[in-house]
Amino acid sequence: MAQALTFVEDIWYFAGLASELKRGQMAHKTIAGHPIVVGRSQSGKIFALRDICPHRAAPFSAGKVMDDDTVECPYHGWRFGLDDGQCTHIPAICKGQKDPSGGIKVRNYPVRENGQLIWAYIAADPKFKGDPEIAPPQFARTDRKAVFVERLKLNCHVDHAVIGLMDPAHVSFLHRQWWWRSGASMHEKEKRFEPRERGFAMAAHTPSSNSFGYKILGGKPITEIAFRLPGVRTEEITVGDKGILSFTAVVPIDENNTEIISVFFSDMAIVKLLKPILKKGASIFLNQDGDIIKLQAECLKHDPRLMLIDDADRQAKWYYAIKKEWAKSRAEGRAFVNPVKPTTLRWRS
Ligand code: FES
Ligand SMILES: [Fe+2]
Repeated sequence: MAQALTFVEDIWYFAGLASELKRGQMAHKTIAGHPIVVGRSQSGKIFALRDICPHRAAPFSAGKVMDDDTVECPYHGWRFGLDDGQCTHIPAICKGQKDPSGGIKVRNYPVRENGQLIWAYIAADPKFKGDPEIAPPQFARTDRKAVFVERLKLNCHVDHAVIGLMDPAHVSFLHRQWWWRSGASMHEKEKRFEPRERGFAMAAHTPSSNSFGYKILGGKPITEIAFRLPGVRTEEITVGDKGILSFTAVVPIDENNTEIISVFFSDMAIVKLLKPILKKGASIFLNQDGDIIKLQAECLKHDPRLMLIDDADRQAKWYYAIKKEWAKSRAEGRAFVNPVKPTTLRWRS
C-alpha cells in the first residue's frame, strides 16, 4: 500500500461528549496533531482553541474559564476570547504602557454540539475563519445521555485503526468467544453496500442468526452499519420505533497514536437493564482489537508491504479511496465525488 499516512482535513472530528463538559470545564485533546482545548463557557456555550498560550506556551486547559467569555492562562493570567481567540487582557501591563493584546490571537476551531456529540472542525488552512462548508454529522438517538462509553488508546496511525474497525473477516478469529460466535458457525456472507455521505453503508438487514447478542433484544431488529470520513462507524439497530445506536469514532491523536471512542445510545429499557453485560462485552471486543494492534505496531516498524484482498478488504480500499478523493476535491475546490458504487460483497466470517 503506497498510501501516505496523513490526516483528513477540512472535516469535523469527534471531540467529546456533551455530558462530560460541565459549565466552566475544559479538556485537552490532541486531534490530528492539533493541540486543542475543548471547553464550555460559564453560560453553557462550547468552544475550542489551540491549547498553547502564545505568550510562553502554557496550556489553557490548566487555566480557568472566566465569566466574561474568556479563558485565563494559568501562567501569567493573559485572557483570550472563547469565540475568536483574541487576546483581551495582559495583567502585567502598567497604566500608560503600550498594550500589545490587540495584535495577539490564538487559533480558534469551529465547534458544534449535536445532541451529546461534540464536533470540532479541523481546517487545512490555519487562518480559516467563518462557517465550514459542511455541517457536522447528526445521528438519531444521540440527544439522550449515553448508556455507556468505552475509550481505548492505540499506538498506531489512524488508518490501521479505521480499517481494523471496518474489517469483517477478523471477527470470527480475533473476537471468537463462546457467547458471541463459535468458529464452527463461520459461513459465507453476502451484503449489499451503498455509497453514503462521505462514506458507505451496509444496507439495512436483519442480522445473522448466529449472533446471540441480537437474540436478546426481542422483536425483529433491523441493523444498518455505516462508515463516514474521517473515521466514524455507526451501527444502528432498530426494533419497532425504539433502538440502539452504537457510535464509534476513530480519532487520530498524532502520526503514531489514535483513540477509539465507543458510545452506546438507546431508548430501549432492556438495554439499560443489560448495561453491565453490554459494557463488559464492548470493553472485551475493544481490548481484543487493541491487543492485536499493539502486536501489529511492532511489525509495522519494519515497514512491510500490506495486502488488501477482495471482497473481504474492500471496505478498507473504499476508505483509502474516499480519503484520497476528499483531499483531492478540497485541493481542487470542487464537490466531493464518492468513489463507492453500489456493490454486493461476499466473504466468509
Ligand atoms: S504563558 Fe500564558 S500568560 Fe504567560
Ligand atoms: Fe474488532
